[in-house]
Amino acid sequence: MTHIKSYVIRQARMSDSQRRHLEEHLHKYRLDYRPDDRSLGGILPSACPVVVEIGFGMGDATAELALADPETLFIGIEVHRPGIGKLVRAIEESDIHNIRIIQHDAVEVLRDMVPPDSLDGIHVFFPDPWQKKRHHKRRLLQAGFVHEAAARLKPGGYLYAVTDWEDYAEQILQVCSHEPLLENQADGFHPPLSWRPNTAFERKGLEKDHRIREVFFRKKRP
Ligand SMILES: C[S@@+](CC[C@H](N)C(=O)[O-])C[C@H]1O[C@@H](n2cnc3c(N)ncnc32)[C@H](O)[C@@H]1O
Repeated sequence: MTHIKSYVIRQARMSDSQRRHLEEHLHKYRLDYRPDDRSLGGILPSACPVVVEIGFGMGDATAELALADPETLFIGIEVHRPGIGKLVRAIEESDIHNIRIIQHDAVEVLRDMVPPDSLDGIHVFFPDPWQKKRHHKRRLLQAGFVHEAAARLKPGGYLYAVTDWEDYAEQILQVCSHEPLLENQADGFHPPLSWRPNTAFERKGLEKDHRIREVFFRKKRP
């Protein structure tokens, strides 16, 4: 089934180091998108906690969280090649063992490769805001996708979204509040969680004096 993509592949410049890490080392950490594989490349079901990060950008937060929590397996999903190269470099340099990378549309990865009730957490840090009204349909966090994501969380698992775009923040809060599988862990926006590392797009937002909004919901237990 085709759907409107929440990203465009940018022809961004890649540094020599990013290219080299992509070409020579990504294969060690990579999981391939396979529409008929409901085990996320053999990872699910998993004895250790599994957290998915959608759109990790340059991967700064991914690497930092994985280093801080070696017992959890972090699955980073991204389509931006320079960012993937940068994260692979961080993995190699810091000898990180608990990150896997999928270079594919996260909507399709979750839909096709992740069974219900299997993830401990989903991170969406600074999703593309698609500011123009005619582009709002491209926003990742809409009712349909939030429902699909919530279905894939374990009971008690969390969806953690952060954005610096006020109207998108309101939209995310509203959509999550209307999703029957989810329960807000705050009264409205969540206070900042101290364990979340800063990201590149967060810094850009702060330079524009944007307010950072956090949305943190858990899947209801039966
Ligand atoms: C605005 S950037 C934020 C990057 C990073 N999280 C940060 O905070 O710096 C959003 C990223 O999400 C990625 N992205 C958007 N939709 C995606 C999708 N459906 N699947 C995978 N990656 C996606 C884009 O390629 C982009 O790198």
